[in-house]
Amino acid sequence: MDEETLKKYIRAGKIAAEALEYGRGLVKPGLKVLDCAEKIEAKIVSLGGIPAFPVNISFDETAAHYTPAPNDPLLFDRQVVKLDVGVHVGGCVGGDTAATIDLSGKYTDLVKASREALEAALKVVQIGTPLGKIGKEIEDTIQSFGFKPVRNLSGHGIGEFMIHGEPSIPNYDTEDETPLEEGMTIAIEPFASTGVGLIQDKGLPQIHSIIANKPVRNIGTRQILKKIDTYEGLPFATRWLAKDFPLFKVQFALRELNQLETLHSYPPLVERTPNSFISQAEHSVYVGDKVIVMTKL
Ligand code: CO
Repeated sequence: MDEETLKKYIRAGKIAAEALEYGRGLVKPGLKVLDCAEKIEAKIVSLGGIPAFPVNISFDETAAHYTPAPNDPLLFDRQVVKLDVGVHVGGCVGGDTAATIDLSGKYTDLVKASREALEAALKVVQIGTPLGKIGKEIEDTIQSFGFKPVRNLSGHGIGEFMIHGEPSIPNYDTEDETPLEEGMTIAIEPFASTGVGLIQDKGLPQIHSIIANKPVRNIGTRQILKKIDTYEGLPFATRWLAKDFPLFKVQFALRELNQLETLHSYPPLVERTPNSFISQAEHSVYVGDKVIVMTKL
């Protein structure tokens, strides 16, 4: 990677870190979840970045992939809240970072478990580190708190207009000997759970991305697709489109694109164990002679 490109990643990382820090202040009982998401996304833009995906605000047993619906009335109350923020600068997705805010006051250790797992993982990150070793650090740390890592969620490579690429960074000891390579940009994101440590799709998706290009006949859908093209293949929210188009048209278009299999929609990811709680922590890292944690303030 050339110097100029690396600078863009680092800038995106810094903006994501600042936006997350700003977002923490908006997670308060009685405040609107929708406002929180929109204000964080506006903050990213005001800092010179572009959201690499809709701000995820996931509650309690939901690990990820919840973002408010258009006109979502939901308020913060006493939930365990995960804020996950993504930023790119000129396509370089250098900022994918998350934190957990426990509004219940009952899950301090759970929050600590994922945060310390992330710190333990970052300590072993360098050129040559086997992926399984990162997973082992995460698993050992989370288990030492008496919780389970979420095994079917993992960290991931981040790249140009790409949020989920290779390599996959496990959250448990897979014994994968594949080494980290020089020049990799990765996001590490441990999830700690009070449940079994497995998530499944549940609920209505509010996040989508284009996965193929096919001709579309309907003129309304074509107009909406034009807007979707400006996201450059990165994930977007139903509510983003509902700003420019009537909601019923947006829903029609999303349905049509789903049927054509040009669109993938991402439902919330929810713990299989009922009434459980999940925490998350995440940083984006550049692996070089010097390891740079790009989303640390
Ligand atoms: Co991520």
